[in-house]
Amino acid sequence: MRGYFDTMPPFVDPSRRHAMTLILGIETSCDDTCAAVITDAGEVRSNVISSQGIHDAYGGVVPEIASRHHLELANAAIDDALRRAGATLDDIDRVAVTQGPGLVGALLVGVATAKAIAAARRLALVPVDHLQGHVAANFLLDDGGGGQPTMDPPFVCLIASGGHTLLARVDDRSSFTVLGRTLDDAAGEAFDKGARLLGLPFPGGPALERLARDGDPEAFAFPTARGVPGLSFSFAGLKTALLYKVRELGAEEAERRRADLAAAYQHAIVEQLADRAERALDAAGLDRLAIGGGVAANGPLRERIGGLNPAALHLPPLELCTDNAAMIASAARFVEPLPYPAYLSLDAYATGEHPLAA
Ligand code: KG4
Ligand code: ZN
Repeated sequence: MRGYFDTMPPFVDPSRRHAMTLILGIETSCDDTCAAVITDAGEVRSNVISSQGIHDAYGGVVPEIASRHHLELANAAIDDALRRAGATLDDIDRVAVTQGPGLVGALLVGVATAKAIAAARRLALVPVDHLQGHVAANFLLDDGGGGQPTMDPPFVCLIASGGHTLLARVDDRSSFTVLGRTLDDAAGEAFDKGARLLGLPFPGGPALERLARDGDPEAFAFPTARGVPGLSFSFAGLKTALLYKVRELGAEEAERRRADLAAAYQHAIVEQLADRAERALDAAGLDRLAIGGGVAANGPLRERIGGLNPAALHLPPLELCTDNAAMIASAARFVEPLPYPAYLSLDAYATGEHPLAA
C-alpha cells in the first residue's frame, strides 16, 4: 500500500544554494514547546520557548494538559523560530527532535511533528536524547560566535534539571558516561517541592531563587548529603528537613522567616551540587567542567561552581540551560542523521537512558 509520503517526488531541489547548513530543532519533552534554528557551526539563529504557564494552578505539570498544549503551540513555535531566523522550511537541511526521556504524550507531539516536516521534504532527521541535549548546550556559540568559547571534551558535565541530576563524563561530542546520579529526587524537583512548601508558584526554582535574595543562607543548617558516598546525590532528606523546620517554627514564624528558609534551603542544594562536581573532577582526573539543565540557571549555583576554579569552565547562558530546542539541534550536529524513510517508525521513549549513555 502506498502512503501519502510515497506519492511525493524524492527531495532534490537545485535551487537550494545556501552554503550554511541549517538545523531545525524541536523539543517538547515537558511543558515548554520549543523550536530553534541553528547553523551546523553552532550559531543560534533563533530559540523560541513557548511556556505553557498553565500548570501552576495544579502545582506541577499535568501530562495530558501539556500534550494538548504542545499540539496547539508546536506549529506556531516552529513558524516563529523560522521567522526569527530569517528562514523558511525551504532553507532547513535537517530536523532534530527530542525522542526521550520525558512525558511520552508530550514527546510524541514533537516526534510526530518532526517526522511530518522531515518526510514531506525528504530531509534527514535526528532523534536526540534530552540529556545529551543539555550537554550539547555547551557546544553552541553563546553569542553567535562573539561570546564564550564552546567547550571541548574531555570534561565533566553536571546536569541538574527537574527530572534528572547526574554527573557525566564527556569524552566526545556525541555521547557521555554517567559517573553518578541522584538516589532519589532531582535537584530541580527539590527546588520545586521546597518552593511549594514555602507557598511559591511553579516552577519553584526561579521563584525560590528570587525569595532567597532577601534571606540569610546560614540562618538554618539544612542537610547536604555529605555522608552519601561517591558521586551519588540525595535530596529527599532535605525536603523533609524543610518540612520539619517549617512545622517547628510554627506558621507565623515560618512566614516571617520565609526568605531565610529559602536561602538556607537553596544553599544546601547548591553545596551538594558543587561538592559532587568537585568530587567528580577528582575522580575523573579532569580539570574541565560544564553544567546544564534548568537548575544550572540558578545564580548562586553558577557563582559557587565558578569558585571551583577548574582549568576550563563553561556555564551556558540561562536560556540554554533551561529546556530549549537549540541544544537539541546542537546535539544533532554530532551524530549520523536518519535518512528518509528510516525515521518514519521512530517512537518516543519516556524513561531510561539513551543507548549512547553507557
Ligand atoms: O531542564 P529543565 O528546564 O526541564 C527538565 O528537563 O526538567 O529544568 C527544569 C527545572 C525545574 O525544576 C525548575 O524549578 C528548575 O529547573 N529551575 C531552577 C531555576 N530555573 C529553573 N532551579 C533553580 N534556580 C533557577 N533559576
Ligand atoms: Zn531538561
